[in-house]
Amino acid sequence: MSTALMVSDLSVAVDNKQILDGFSLEVPFGEVHAIMGPNGSGKSTLCHVLTGKPGYQVKGSASLNGDDLFSLDVDERARLGLLQSFQYPTQVAGVKLREFMMEAAEEMGLGTAEAATRIETESERFGMGPFLDRSVNADLSGGEKKKSEIFQMAVLRPKVALLDEIDSGLDIDAVKQVSEAVEAMRSPDLAVVMITHYSRILRYLSVDRIHVMIDGRLVDSGGSELAEELESGGYEGLRKRLGIEKVLEDGPMRKPADFFTETPFDV
Ligand SMILES: Nc1ncnc2c1ncn2[C@@H]1O[C@H](COP(=O)(O)OP(=O)(O)OP(=O)(O)O)[C@@H](O)[C@H]1O
Ligand SMILES: [Mg+2]
Repeated sequence: MSTALMVSDLSVAVDNKQILDGFSLEVPFGEVHAIMGPNGSGKSTLCHVLTGKPGYQVKGSASLNGDDLFSLDVDERARLGLLQSFQYPTQVAGVKLREFMMEAAEEMGLGTAEAATRIETESERFGMGPFLDRSVNADLSGGEKKKSEIFQMAVLRPKVALLDEIDSGLDIDAVKQVSEAVEAMRSPDLAVVMITHYSRILRYLSVDRIHVMIDGRLVDSGGSELAEELESGGYEGLRKRLGIEKVLEDGPMRKPADFFTETPFDV
């Protein structure tokens, strides 16, 4: 199977704060990979940098089906077939979901009739009908926003989908529905990177590989046993097994004695 997404030695900083540090990942077409990692480990930043959000100092390389992503603008990356579903989807006042999807689908090369048919079919499947003629994400609940993201993916059929916590905020039935939808979209023309905090999604979706990201880099990869290990021992347990020390924001831990001087102030 050929490589859909290749990320090599990616380092990313914002205002000199290092977020990703030598991150590498390869996802072949036809596969679904999960990335798990503690809060703040850099998972969303990875998605933002790959899709082209400005403001980061980026080193390293990334390609989609062999095309160098970092030499392209945001819209060019999207047209190549890169899609990010957002952890926190934003409201777009005044832009109706249906119009937004028609524009996006046409930009992806779909004819008007085909775009309209897909929007109808997929909105019915995900119960998005009532939201089509409202502004994008306006007053949607957390779970409805996540369903809207997966609806957009189903219409646009990307080549590489970066799903950032698509399962957060979903009720139990919706987790099942969204996972089954991703499984149904599995094809030799699609690669999925699924960022998640919960192994429950892995019950409904057969993931080809699980990666664990800590402190901006991948520290371990494996199968379902890795998710089980995390479920029972947490990231603390994994750190211990791999001998990874906690990085402290403010440098090395200071002992209480460090805050006192040998000499009393009044001497
Ligand atoms: N623009 C920014 N300026 C400063 N720090 C940032 C910026 N963007 C991200 N960070 C920091 O980078 C780190 C990684 O953030 P990121 O959102 O990628 O984490 P995450 O792995 O997605 O976490 P979560 O699981 O909570 O969603 C965090 O410590 C965050 O505060
Ligand atoms: Mg995140």
